[in-house]
Amino acid sequence: MVLSSSTVRRYHDGTKHHFHRFARSAGYLDWASQPRPFRAFTGAPAFPFVSVGVASARGPQPLPADCRYAPRRVGYDHLFDPPAHTGPVRAAAIGDLLRHALGLSAWKQYREARWSLRVNPSSGNLHPTEAYVVCGVCPGLADSPAVYHYAADRHALELRGAFDPSTWESACEGRRDALLVALTSIHWREAWKYGERAFRYCQHDLGHAIAALVVAAAAVGWRAVLLPAWSQRAIAAVTGVDRDEDFVEAEREEPGCILAIGAGDVPAPLWNGGEQLVAAAKAGRWFGRASQLSEDHVQWTFIDEIARATEDPGRALPPGNRAEGAREGGAVGRAGGAGARDRAADARALILQRRSAVAFDGRSSMEADAFFALLSRVMPAHHAPWDALWWTPRVHLAIFVHRVVDLAPGLYLLPRGAGAIDTLRPALGREFLWDAAHDHPRLVGLAHGDCQRLAARLSCDQAIAADGFFSLGMIAQFDASLEEHGPSFYRHLFWESGFIGQVLYLEAEAAGARATGIGCFYDDPVHDTLGLAGHAFQSLYHFTVGVPVEDTRLMTEAGYEWERGSIVAPLH
Ligand SMILES: Cc1cc2nc3c(=O)[nH]c(=O)nc-3n(C[C@H](O)[C@H](O)[C@H](O)COP(=O)(O)O)c2cc1C
Repeated sequence: MVLSSSTVRRYHDGTKHHFHRFARSAGYLDWASQPRPFRAFTGAPAFPFVSVGVASARGPQPLPADCRYAPRRVGYDHLFDPPAHTGPVRAAAIGDLLRHALGLSAWKQYREARWSLRVNPSSGNLHPTEAYVVCGVCPGLADSPAVYHYAADRHALELRGAFDPSTWESACEGRRDALLVALTSIHWREAWKYGERAFRYCQHDLGHAIAALVVAAAAVGWRAVLLPAWSQRAIAAVTGVDRDEDFVEAEREEPGCILAIGAGDVPAPLWNGGEQLVAAAKAGRWFGRASQLSEDHVQWTFIDEIARATEDPGRALPPGNRAEGAREGGAVGRAGGAGARDRAADARALILQRRSAVAFDGRSSMEADAFFALLSRVMPAHHAPWDALWWTPRVHLAIFVHRVVDLAPGLYLLPRGAGAIDTLRPALGREFLWDAAHDHPRLVGLAHGDCQRLAARLSCDQAIAADGFFSLGMIAQFDASLEEHGPSFYRHLFWESGFIGQVLYLEAEAAGARATGIGCFYDDPVHDTLGLAGHAFQSLYHFTVGVPVEDTRLMTEAGYEWERGSIVAPLH
């Protein structure tokens, strides 16, 4: 434990960007070894969702009655207090979930270059996150309980393993309304470009993907919660990523996290770590071989070291603890004022339109009401999406306000939790104002003045941090969190940051604006700006929101062929 903790500190400090030196990477892009964007399992039977009730290139297919699923239109605001969907899990509902969490949101083209974007964002659009679904028998899928790999390029499930039906039944206590989704990371995808800092980006991306799943589950009418009792080893076993024989020459996947998704409470055996299910998976029948993404690799051993040091053994918590993250939160935040125009918009459409801004106009302002409505949505609460997280929130926002109507430009603090201000105040070692700028959510004014240049400078000189309404740093309570939950919680701090980021992305779209995650920032200069010394708090992620300037040279197409042109067969 002591060794692991010191590795966390060494890795975190060793992968900081400094004004005079970036974290270690190759320093150039070796295009010959660029990882392929999609993994496939060769030889695994595939189940494309277009044939199980959603849509098909030949138009909608007639469905057997037990496959039918009619997604309800859900307004964006309802994602935060979703109406429950009851009844057994259907394949098409799983398709709806995955399409709106991890599917392709668009294809972009510029001259000869064509690339896809996904519903979940990713640092450098490199997408290290892979997803696996574990579910019971559903018409349209395999005829036994099974684990599947999600192939986002084809919007299909690839059958990886089939298990003994009685084990799944007892894991779900006989219920048919639950499934599991596990997420893994292929570190190489990010390391190819970013070198040693890549482990951080993989964790941010997991946080975004977790939130994307929770939000898409809410659109279906399901609740999604992270399962803390599952060790990484158990996740590796149930997804099959620990099977050496299936990854010959293929880049390995690091187990990340697992979520229970469904209509009711999590069945106790799944909450408690799924021991028997894991044993059944190990004894099950497995299919397919993982595809290789690059022929050549650079070994970044620091990443292997931090991955080992932060391996999660799982932690047993009573089921009541799963809403711990909500303890200090309030009621469902309702948005008002300008910027509220898209809040009744179709949630799925809004999810699919999420993009990162590449530039902001540097002029437009946000109405104060809209700004505070957006901030209230990132506050932990007793409802979706925040009730998916089992820990007390550890990440607070230091906000550089540039253009918010009736709010003086300057530096502000959004403590995400009632007691947080008492820990933050003594840690911020500068002469700050500590003005009460707003009550709900509580926003504290630290300093007034134009901080556009400072914000851009701290975010690796990126103009997007200066040209929007505001940009921010996510300040995590670092030492105390790791002390309380152990070294593996290093990952969770990034997950919480990515999770907040995903909510900010959607809130920006709902307000008629756009956001961008910023993984490139100068770590210690951010701490100096706030007067933070030592490791009690560390800045883990930056974000920015504003009115985008579109790159009109790019052509855009819908994510899937069956969503384009006259053969569009709508999902709902
Ligand atoms: C963890 C993370 C870090 C990112 N860092 C930056 C950044 O420093 N600068 C930037 O312009 N975009 C950044 N992005 C945005 C990505 O480039 C963007 O998500 C990706 O290109 C995919 O595009 P999309 O978000 O429009 O789907 C980041 C995104 C994530 C998730």
